Amino acid sequence: ERATSDHSQTLTIEQDITLLPVIEGVQVYPEYIADGALVVDDVTGCIVEYGHNETILAKYTNTSEQAGQPVVKVHNYRDKLVMPGFIDTHVHYPQIDMIAAYGEQLLDWLNNYTFVTEANFSDPKVAHDTAQFFLNQLLANGTTSAMVFSTSHPESVNAFFTESHKLNTRMITGNVLMDQNAPDNLCVLAEQGIRDTQNIIDNWHERGRQHVAITPRFAITSTPKQLQMAGELYASYESVYLQTHLAENHDEIAFVKQLYPNHKGYLDVYDTMGLLGRRTTLAHGIHLEISEYERLRATGTQISHCPTSNLFLGSGLFNLPKTLSYTGVSIATDVGAGTSLSMLTTLSEAYKIQQLQSNQLSAHQGLYQITLGNAQSLLLDDKIGNFMPNKEADFVVIDMGATELLERRMAQTKTLEEQLFVLMMLGDDRVIDQTVIAGVSRYRKSTL
Ligand code: GUN
Ligand code: ZN
Repeated sequence: ERATSDHSQTLTIEQDITLLPVIEGVQVYPEYIADGALVVDDVTGCIVEYGHNETILAKYTNTSEQAGQPVVKVHNYRDKLVMPGFIDTHVHYPQIDMIAAYGEQLLDWLNNYTFVTEANFSDPKVAHDTAQFFLNQLLANGTTSAMVFSTSHPESVNAFFTESHKLNTRMITGNVLMDQNAPDNLCVLAEQGIRDTQNIIDNWHERGRQHVAITPRFAITSTPKQLQMAGELYASYESVYLQTHLAENHDEIAFVKQLYPNHKGYLDVYDTMGLLGRRTTLAHGIHLEISEYERLRATGTQISHCPTSNLFLGSGLFNLPKTLSYTGVSIATDVGAGTSLSMLTTLSEAYKIQQLQSNQLSAHQGLYQITLGNAQSLLLDDKIGNFMPNKEADFVVIDMGATELLERRMAQTKTLEEQLFVLMMLGDDRVIDQTVIAGVSRYRKSTL
């Protein structure tokens, strides 16, 4: 190893790794390089190139040091697997404080646990402490980007973006819009909520790696006026996102039909308010009519599948191949209804949900989904998701033998696909050795 000096250009070579950049193609397949190396530009935090360790080292380190030559640091991750950072497309940061709350399905769970906890986020100190804790938990799970719900308090969003900006993580959030059917201390009048979002867009959208999403919670907690204003705001921007929830639970759907009797169905409420489009991600979408799938396709609207949440709240079984045949699907934790921040654990539960419907989810498809697939769904695949040159160097260093059981089971595997499947089924935060954000190591597993 050589120390970095004051050269204007410095490079880091992540040496002796196994690389798993996910490549896009007709068929999804991972590119695997045993003894690979990843070259990162320390100034931009972006990937220069990847390749075989020997070739890369020869190219970057064999030249004798001369003026103007970049200083090269070499990191060695022998026996580890390096993958693009994981992306979580739907998660509620304030709900980290009430994850695993007993006994209820969606609507009671919201009223009895969720809204009570979210009310605490009027306090900026609570918001900053929780945002910091949550982001560190994401890193410990290998998640480097996420589309996140804050609360209806603008300070909850400022706190989140402030902490994310410090870490330089690429994150999407916005203030939650609610103006009915929720406690007074969480409701904000339609105009005020939209003004808050507008301010947040002015202050944070595309500042560093932060993006804003217009965030009406769901049809139940917004008046038609608020949804209409949200749609107008969405139409006035070209790159601002929109996120909300859709068709998660049967009682929820019945309540929406009661509140909006003149609409064709749940999705039609969002459709007529102008909330659908390619920059829109709707969480869940479990119970949909064919006409609704067709509107998702026609508008390019994306669905975020949240397996641990669907099982925890007893919401239902998401049909992955069916939904994929209409539109883009991402996969997400949905903590605090979701029970883990690990995208590996999430994949494991997604696999089981498909098993119950006689559908399959291979390790290649799953690992593609939580990296490049989720990046595509969020229109971020020009920046993150795999190791193509000039993408941002967000990656995880994985220890395939992190536990005694994993070590023993891995010793029995014969193929890469088998190893990756075991990783997907048994892996969680324990396999994450290190998490690197734009070339900077932000998490290292404690070796105590
Ligand atoms: N629908 C509306 N709000 C929420 C929430 O916070 N979690 C889940 N799982 N569904 C919702
Ligand atoms: Zn949610």
